[in-house]
Amino acid sequence: MKNPPVITDIKGSFELRNGVKMPYLGLGTYQSDNDEEVVKAIKSALQLGYRHIDTAAAYKNEVGVGKGIRESGVDRSDIFLVTKVWNADQGYEETLKAFNASLERLDVDYLDLYLIHWPVEGKYKDTWRALEHLYAQKKIRAIGVSNFLKHHLEDVMSDCTVVPMVNQMEFHPHLVQQDLIDFCADNGIQYESWSPFMQGKVFELDICADLAKKYNKSVAQIILRYNLQKGIVAIPKSVHANRIASNADIFDFELSDADIAFLDGLETGERIGPDPDNFNF
Ligand SMILES: NC(=O)c1ccc[n+]([C@@H]2O[C@H](COP(=O)([O-])OP(=O)(O)OC[C@H]3O[C@@H](n4cnc5c(N)ncnc54)[C@H](OP(=O)(O)O)[C@@H]3O)[C@@H](O)[C@H]2O)c1
Repeated sequence: MKNPPVITDIKGSFELRNGVKMPYLGLGTYQSDNDEEVVKAIKSALQLGYRHIDTAAAYKNEVGVGKGIRESGVDRSDIFLVTKVWNADQGYEETLKAFNASLERLDVDYLDLYLIHWPVEGKYKDTWRALEHLYAQKKIRAIGVSNFLKHHLEDVMSDCTVVPMVNQMEFHPHLVQQDLIDFCADNGIQYESWSPFMQGKVFELDICADLAKKYNKSVAQIILRYNLQKGIVAIPKSVHANRIASNADIFDFELSDADIAFLDGLETGERIGPDPDNFNF
């Protein structure tokens, strides 16, 4: 690895191209219900020291996320809040509207990061222009994309004024996509993982259990440490306070380069979610 990232503690961050600091550990909220479930999860995470929350219009829980933030007692300005524009809302004007609707549901007046959720063919470049406009108006501290492969990124970069600052992708030992990670690094695009636990399937991999034993940590902790040491932002999802706590107990050990290479070598191309080149929603 060229420059090993500096990993300190739960509040530590990676710096985006524009100088904004993105905490490298956040809480995911996909499939967290928009009621006391997500409110409790957000409050637990923020009270434990997490400072990064990932949601999306499509998760239908932005109201609960906003409520959890307010009830946590943590200052809005200390939290890195991310949401995403959904596919049906893509296009220039539609995205501006969708952005305002997300702000209203979250009950906040700015976002730290706004992402295009999926590269909807024929739409994502207009959507990107809307994000550039909102960024220029200082309504978002950073803008990025999700599920963009190299050719999608190259297409946006061919005529954008702001290169995406983040790419949030499915990433786990069965879907490493090192070429894409390297392309993002070369272009100053912060890589971020979704489904780092393969939505639970990673816990069934014997090899991860062996590593957990070797380091006297849990499989979840091994996987999250793997993300961070590769310079990848991770947003594991849980609605259980004990898991949210143990997922952040990853700052007292370090994986060897050999074990990181070993996990990289488990790549099979297996996806948990849809293929960004072949989705129909
Ligand atoms: N951009 C995109 O297209 C996209 C797609 C998918 C996800 N995401 C984002 O990425 C986040 C993470 O991905 P994900 O939710 O798909 O899956 P994930 O984080 O890989 O896995 C979540 C699952 O693992 C369980 N879990 C969490 N911590 C655990 C632990 N320590 N021990 C055992 N089980 C544990 C959770 O259960 P409990 O909740 O019951 O604890 C849940 O079933 C999402 O929440 C979302 O914010 C983005």
